[in-house]
Amino acid sequence: MVELLPLSNIEPQAVEDLLDAAFGTDRFGRTAYRIREGVDAVPELSFALVEDGALVGTIQCWPVALRAPDADDIPLVMVGPVAVRPDVQRGGHGRALMVHMLDAAETEADGALMMIGDPEYYGRFFGFTADATGEWDLPGPFEKRRLLARAVNGHDLPTGAGMIGSR
Ligand SMILES: CC(C)(COP(=O)(O)OP(=O)(O)OC[C@H]1O[C@@H](n2cnc3c(N)ncnc32)[C@H](O)[C@@H]1OP(=O)(O)O)[C@@H](O)C(=O)NCCC(=O)NCCS
Repeated sequence: MVELLPLSNIEPQAVEDLLDAAFGTDRFGRTAYRIREGVDAVPELSFALVEDGALVGTIQCWPVALRAPDADDIPLVMVGPVAVRPDVQRGGHGRALMVHMLDAAETEADGALMMIGDPEYYGRFFGFTADATGEWDLPGPFEKRRLLARAVNGHDLPTGAGMIGSR
């Protein structure tokens, strides 16, 4: 039986072990971790996929903002990590987690969605593009083609220049 549960139902160490398996234990140096340093995930948009009682995948979302020098901060929601246990990848679990999060985001997200990810996956299945993010900056190295965003819940994408940081 496959269940999609609030991530808060899961033992935090089990989540960390899954992320180590999917991304490697050196994941903390990634730019995505710098962006969300010191903030907690959004509980309404963070989920676990459990199959027959075993944790198989997770998705977390974080409150961030686009900061421009001469404008108000624009709230955004950062999506990720999306992680599926390596031995069961490519079985539809990543898609199930993303679809579940996007359904929730349609009513719960307090800003448009952004993420660092492969456009070949997140564009193809979920409508994320780099069209609006060309002038966005991040507090660390990143590939521009992998900085993706998507409107949701009536929140359009800001297209101006700015730095993404936590809020
Ligand atoms: C990326 C990830 C979340 C996808 O979840 P998954 O359960 O393995 O994938 P799904 O079964 O939902 O989707 C499978 C489809 O997506 C494609 N796909 C999977 N990862 C892809 C990638 N990085 N780039 C392009 N396509 C990808 C597969 O080819 C497959 O397409 P097909 O149906 O035409 O064969 C998972 O593989 C994972 O945890 N990877 C390691 C961590 C990671 O890179 N996370 C994403 C960054 S936040």
